[in-house]
Amino acid sequence: MPTNRCVAAAAAAFILFFFSAGATTDYDSYSDFIEEDDTPQLDYKDPNWCRSPHLPNGEVSCRSPRGGAHRGLLGTRCEMTCDRGYRLLGRKSIQCLANRLWSGSAYCRRVRCHVLPLIPQGRYSCTQGFFVDSRCEFTCRPGYRIEGEHSRTCLHRGSWSGVQPECSDTDPPKIRCPLSRLKVAEPGKLTARVSWDPPAATDTADKFLNVMLVDQQPGSEFKEGLHVIRYKVYDQARNRAACKFIVRVEVRRCPELPPPLHGYLICSSDGNNYGAECEYLCDGGYERKGMSSRVCQFNRSWSGGPAECVPMEFKFSVQTVGALLDQFYEKRRLLIMSAPNISDPDYQLQNIMIQKSDCGLDLRHVTVVELLGSPPRETGRIKENLLQSDVIEGLRQAFRISRFYFSMVLLDKLGIDRERFIVPVSSEELFSYIDSFLMEEEERERLELHRDFCD
Ligand SMILES: *[C@@H]1O[C@H](CO)[C@@H](O)[C@H](O)[C@H]1NC(C)=O
Ligand SMILES: *[C@@H]1O[C@H](CO)[C@@H](O)[C@H](O)[C@H]1NC(C)=O
Repeated sequence: MPTNRCVAAAAAAFILFFFSAGATTDYDSYSDFIEEDDTPQLDYKDPNWCRSPHLPNGEVSCRSPRGGAHRGLLGTRCEMTCDRGYRLLGRKSIQCLANRLWSGSAYCRRVRCHVLPLIPQGRYSCTQGFFVDSRCEFTCRPGYRIEGEHSRTCLHRGSWSGVQPECSDTDPPKIRCPLSRLKVAEPGKLTARVSWDPPAATDTADKFLNVMLVDQQPGSEFKEGLHVIRYKVYDQARNRAACKFIVRVEVRRCPELPPPLHGYLICSSDGNNYGAECEYLCDGGYERKGMSSRVCQFNRSWSGGPAECVPMEFKFSVQTVGALLDQFYEKRRLLIMSAPNISDPDYQLQNIMIQKSDCGLDLRHVTVVELLGSPPRETGRIKENLLQSDVIEGLRQAFRISRFYFSMVLLDKLGIDRERFIVPVSSEELFSYIDSFLMEEEERERLELHRDFCD
């Protein structure tokens, strides 16, 4: 359309003209004589009195005094309107004047909306840039969602419809916990050390996430039972995700071991858990027959077999004091009581005082040896068992026990004389001495348990 373009250029160059002051004509008495040569010859019929008006991107609608399609007649008035998306600059209405020019000029300028700002974490694309009717569509980065209107349109007045939307992170992060696990407590323990790889979290929006462990750390000791391990994670928009798994610690246990008749067990750890060891011990007057201890194995059975406590058996008819003492070594304490004769008052008093104390003596692993009289009618006995005279003589010499006055010697389990009494003592005094100075820790505990048993 080369002609159109040419006309457009001409129309844009419309220039406003004014009539000269002489537009009004004064008629007076002299007028008949004055010939006004410069008065234009007005021709109301010339269709090209003014050049036909043109408005690019707009419309010109004219009304001429003579009607019809004539747009250049003198006196024609034209209304200028711009196409959608254009704004009129200049005169809205022009008239074809006597000087063959139009009374004003106008042109249509394309309307633009302002440049749309970007939104954080998002972008937009527009159908026709920032011109009228252009629709700009907003989109968000992955992991974000539009909040508000998805698009804005450039309105014909040059402003955008709506308000800027926002991109907000609504996708929670993802986190996956390790599998639940079962761990058997370590031997001799009621706990197990359990480890795992901490879970990694991902989020569409954030790269760096802070994964928090709510419970026990991996690699720490866990008690018997179920433990729920929880992890949680927040992204920067405080969307939360969590996961959990279970750590189960099993303590393997053997059946409870029954204590032996006339004896007891001392067990390590929890008594019957995997790795616990139980030692068989016998009451005073009894000795162990069989394995000294058993261990609870992984397959929940005890190693070995049960031990028994059988009554201690001593041979009293031995020929030497050594043979007698060897039998008591590490098993029994000896209380050797000596008196000149059976009617010795101290001896009698002592007998009264420790009468009925057999139980207490047994509890303290004490065997009483009595040496009475002088040769040839000298006797030595342990309860009703008589000792050989060489043995009696041996005891007297080894522990310096006189035949001529009442005395008592207390030997410990290693056969060493620990205390000597030359006057009768009550059983309480005797026991208190033994408890304080001769008892081993374990015996003392055992004694505490059975103290009432003798009453
Ligand atoms: C348990 O395991 C031990 C070896 O560790 C084995 O000697 C014993 O026979 C097993 N007992 C049972 C009941 O499986
Ligand atoms: C018993 O011993 C005492 C001394 O302790 C003595 O006086 C008494 O005569 C003795 N009795 C007998 C019957 O030997």
